[in-house]
Amino acid sequence: MKVQNICCIGAGYVGGPTMAVIAKKCPDIKVTVVDINEARIAAWNDENVENIPVYEPGLPQVVAEARGRNLFFSTDVDKAIDEAQMIFISVNTPTKTYGEGKGQAADLKWIELCARQIARVAKEKKIVVEKSTLPVRTASALKDILEHTGNGINFQILSNPEFLAEGTAVEDLMAPDRVLIGGDQSEEGLSAINSLVEVYARWVPRERILTTNVWSSELSKLTANAFLAQRVSSINSLSELCEHTEADVNEVSRAIGTDSRIGPKFLKASVGFGGSCFQKDILNLVYISRSYGLDEVADYWEQVIIMNDHQKKRFAKKIIKNLYNTVSGKKIAFLGWAFKKDTNDTRESAAIYVADHLLNEQSKVSVFDPKVTEQQIYSDLDYLGSRSSEENKESLTVVKDPYKVCNGAHAIAVLTEWDEFKTYDWQKIYDNMLKPAHVFDGRNIMDKKALQNIGFQVHSIGSADDN
Ligand SMILES: NC(=O)c1ccc[n+]([C@@H]2O[C@H](COP(=O)([O-])OP(=O)(O)OC[C@H]3O[C@@H](n4cnc5c(N)ncnc54)[C@H](O)[C@@H]3O)[C@@H](O)[C@H]2O)c1
Repeated sequence: MKVQNICCIGAGYVGGPTMAVIAKKCPDIKVTVVDINEARIAAWNDENVENIPVYEPGLPQVVAEARGRNLFFSTDVDKAIDEAQMIFISVNTPTKTYGEGKGQAADLKWIELCARQIARVAKEKKIVVEKSTLPVRTASALKDILEHTGNGINFQILSNPEFLAEGTAVEDLMAPDRVLIGGDQSEEGLSAINSLVEVYARWVPRERILTTNVWSSELSKLTANAFLAQRVSSINSLSELCEHTEADVNEVSRAIGTDSRIGPKFLKASVGFGGSCFQKDILNLVYISRSYGLDEVADYWEQVIIMNDHQKKRFAKKIIKNLYNTVSGKKIAFLGWAFKKDTNDTRESAAIYVADHLLNEQSKVSVFDPKVTEQQIYSDLDYLGSRSSEENKESLTVVKDPYKVCNGAHAIAVLTEWDEFKTYDWQKIYDNMLKPAHVFDGRNIMDKKALQNIGFQVHSIGSADDN
């Protein structure tokens, strides 16, 4: 089947950019992205493409080119399902916060709702593509729902996990390392796989389009995230050892990263990884392993999360220790709130947990981030439920100017690696702070020597303090 009409359910960090790039690369395919969140759809349709809800370098240009031509954003989910030959499901799959599997298993409530809606609306055969990251064997649950509640039509289910990284989503989508498509190995399944291969083959070299069975595809996505997160936790575990010895984690990282078998990527020590995926996908792997009675496998992967939590806590404790063991009433300025640079996504950002720890110690936290809104920062903090929303507003302020945020502060904590932080007038910042003025560099991006020459006490991750 030659695909001419695609629908994607979920206009988030994955659905939006992925479909925008498909529409750009396939001008003859009509791509409609639908969501139940009206505000989000309105933002995707904002006349000014700089106001789209997902901040990604290069994305406004892609949207500007395709929107209104063959790319559409809408809240009319039924209509889009009805018209499409291929339906991508790209809704959120967060960790369950209730009941069986709470804190580990993926909450598939939104996936199931999508499946039921597709089953109800579809009147002719459809290819349903899992774009969301799902636990192994979810496709069979989808198939079950579609076949038992549908109008008796044929559904083929494909798994096509997304490997884009936020902050570089457009680049990743334009030139992916690989595209993975899993499907049923029957004649009809292989034909459905082929339909999707033909979409990607418009711009992705065929040797980079891997096809597998559904379960391998589902498991590969969880595994890719688990391996990446494991590297971060591995180097972070060594950062603590470095702080107690005379080794420097940046040097260790360079030394081991030049070994071609190890490679340099994801070897940067930091305050800990964040983002909506790493933690939830590993927890998922842990949950699945445990449900098969594979406790050693589950424990092995769980340690990656334990290490990451430790790293965030350790960073907050280090700030407190260096401010004479009390931060009560002291102003700590945060540079950065997003979970990494070049995104406005804050899900699971280390900054949230570090702020929470400091607020428990009665610190006054003040935050500047170039792309994150004040409303998002408060909602992240409120979500933790550690204190009332009023108390959060009283103890944490959001400031729109990087110099003002540091005025009168006892310490600065760098929580996100935004490039612009490196280019600030640090002398000016120093002059307006309380002394001794501390910088806690949670991303190891600052020029330590230059800051020390100004007079700052600098504390980096993974090297002993030498102030
Ligand atoms: N964010 C990433 O970097 C990334 C990368 C690869 C894979 N993934 C996976 O992709 C999936 C989506 O992630 P995201 O970051 O885009 O999530 P998101 O929360 O940004 O977007 C999901 C969207 O789906 C919408 N939605 C939920 N239920 C719906 C329904 N029944 N009908 C219509 N719309 C509905 C929500 O309103 C929301 O706008 C997740 O499974 C995630 O694990 C994410």
